[in-house]
Amino acid sequence: MLVLGIETSCDETGVALYDRSAGRLLAHAVYSQVAMHEAYGGVVPELASRDHIRRLVPLTRQVLSKAQKTIGDVAGIGYTEGPGLAGALLVGASFAHGLALARGIPVLGIHHLEGHLLSPLLSEHPPSFPFIALLVSGGHTQLMRVEGVGRYALLGETQDDAAGEAFDKTAKLLGLGYPGGPAVSSLAERGKAGRYRLPRPMIASPDFDFSFSGLKTAVLTLIKSESPEPADLARAFVDAVVDVLVAKCTRALESTGLTTLVVAGGVGANKQLRAALDKQGERCGFDVFYPEPELCTDNGAMIAFAAALKMTEQRAHARFTVKPRWDLEG
Ligand code: KG4
Ligand code: ZN
Repeated sequence: MLVLGIETSCDETGVALYDRSAGRLLAHAVYSQVAMHEAYGGVVPELASRDHIRRLVPLTRQVLSKAQKTIGDVAGIGYTEGPGLAGALLVGASFAHGLALARGIPVLGIHHLEGHLLSPLLSEHPPSFPFIALLVSGGHTQLMRVEGVGRYALLGETQDDAAGEAFDKTAKLLGLGYPGGPAVSSLAERGKAGRYRLPRPMIASPDFDFSFSGLKTAVLTLIKSESPEPADLARAFVDAVVDVLVAKCTRALESTGLTTLVVAGGVGANKQLRAALDKQGERCGFDVFYPEPELCTDNGAMIAFAAALKMTEQRAHARFTVKPRWDLEG
């Protein structure tokens, strides 16, 4: 059974084709709108929606031809139902439902974070359940306990900014453009450690929650007071974020007794975070799993995959909905 996946929650149009019987991703393609939004310093929702409309048909054609399949071979469709930008989600939902209706095949709405969460299972050496998942994206920072597909318990989350948002805001303060995560990360690689000391918010709190908005303020204060060396400041910022994420993941693993950690979402592509988690895993005896680097940020493959796992006769519904705000536990 071939499942087509459609992702349009924010500023990436993603399309993919997953073969459920073979358990294999056949093809995927992503069109990033980053260049278009860069001029505005962030995502402009209306422009995002309009661009998704332009990209979906050509991307779908591209994926089908890469996989040497036709639309007639597709047996089901999954799309991102939420959370995300309402207009952007509606484009993907309309496309998915229209195509499914025309072809007479089932269609299933997928939670964007569930897509991220399950994406490491697409890699060559997938983790097995149960595990702790760290979801670190532009919009979310959450620790979840995952018992199986569809069985998620939220342990803790950010009280304000997401980790990716902190990266993006710091990038802006450093004049690095949008989105700033990868740029801050590579600047930090050239920076000296310990030159500036930034706070590690909530690192010692006995919970699994995060707070990153104070960090951005601390960066701003430093910039205003002593025109710091950019690479060293980027290094101080990355070290602070990484320390907090590593500490909270370790606490979640220790308190649940689990020994498998899965990292997903855009910030999961971060080199320094990966190196620190791997090192901590060796020290404390847990294994860390990541999606393939190209599947860390938003993509259609994770949606096709989640839909393929979840699509059963009863579940495939014809209800046309999007949920811009949506808890994964619900
Ligand atoms: O998961 P994602 O593609 O979209 C959301 O669902 O939000 O995550 C995007 C976020 C952005 O904030 C971006 O700056 C950040 O992930 N990001 C990174 C890196 N690559 C992407 N942050 C730090 N280091 C990276 N290498
Ligand atoms: Zn995402």
